[in-house]
Amino acid sequence: SKLILHKNPLSPEAEAFKKLKFNIDILTKEFPKIIAVTSIIENEGKSTIVANLAIAYSLAGYKTLIIDGDLRKPSLHKIFETPNEHGFTELVTKNILKPYPSRFQNLFILPAGEDSLNVLKILDAFDLRKIRELLTENFDVVILDTPPVLPVAEVNTLADFAGHLLLVVRADYTPKKLLFEFETSIPENIRLIGFVLNFYKRAESHYRYYKYYHHETEKENNSLSNLLKKLKIVKED
Ligand SMILES: Nc1ncnc2c1ncn2[C@@H]1O[C@H](COP(=O)(O)OP(=O)(O)OP(=O)(O)O)[C@@H](O)[C@H]1O
Ligand SMILES: [Mg+2]
Repeated sequence: SKLILHKNPLSPEAEAFKKLKFNIDILTKEFPKIIAVTSIIENEGKSTIVANLAIAYSLAGYKTLIIDGDLRKPSLHKIFETPNEHGFTELVTKNILKPYPSRFQNLFILPAGEDSLNVLKILDAFDLRKIRELLTENFDVVILDTPPVLPVAEVNTLADFAGHLLLVVRADYTPKKLLFEFETSIPENIRLIGFVLNFYKRAESHYRYYKYYHHETEKENNSLSNLLKKLKIVKED
């Protein structure tokens, strides 16, 4: 099971997700909030982190919604074993918000939806403000899974919609050059709140959240690039 917080709530991995939630709350004080989670390339652990972070919020008593915004390769309906008949696609194209309950209290799942494949057409219909309103009227926390930044075009739209962006970096895997390119090309309207280092092998755990990086105030000395260079954990190209 990928649901660490459920399977083994007292493990170091579960603790790491509670800490991650805590740090996000320090950096994004307001509720309701929408957070998009992305990574540079595939398979860095986005969906796993979305799932467990959302469980952490729901355990803390917040009414939480997971949205599967990875319309090309949806996976959250599989992780949470819900249907995928209607979801994000219907929300964007028809303003219908009908999430599925999960087996966790306070936690709801909005999968990609069955007809999710025509991504660009779907996102064309995106009335950001209206949908944001609908979501924040109904939920305290919304966590949005997205496709990787490369090779896909829609991440900026999704991150702009969310307002907050969390970047997953997979140790020894994320290509350094692409990561640095991404960091220096983030549009002004998107707030990168920090990154989660995944697959970092230290002591007994793989799920170590390592260091939080605050993009706005520490840009100069503590940029993501500098930090990762120091840690020497990103893949050399
Ligand atoms: N810290 C970890 N330790 C071990 N396995 C992990 C860890 N994080 C994720 N995985 C596993 O790695 C695989 C990829 O994870 P996941 O599907 O969450 O990544 P993703 O970034 O959402 O991928 P995609 O780009 O395909 O959507 C999954 O099999 C998941 O169970
Ligand atoms: Mg995924």
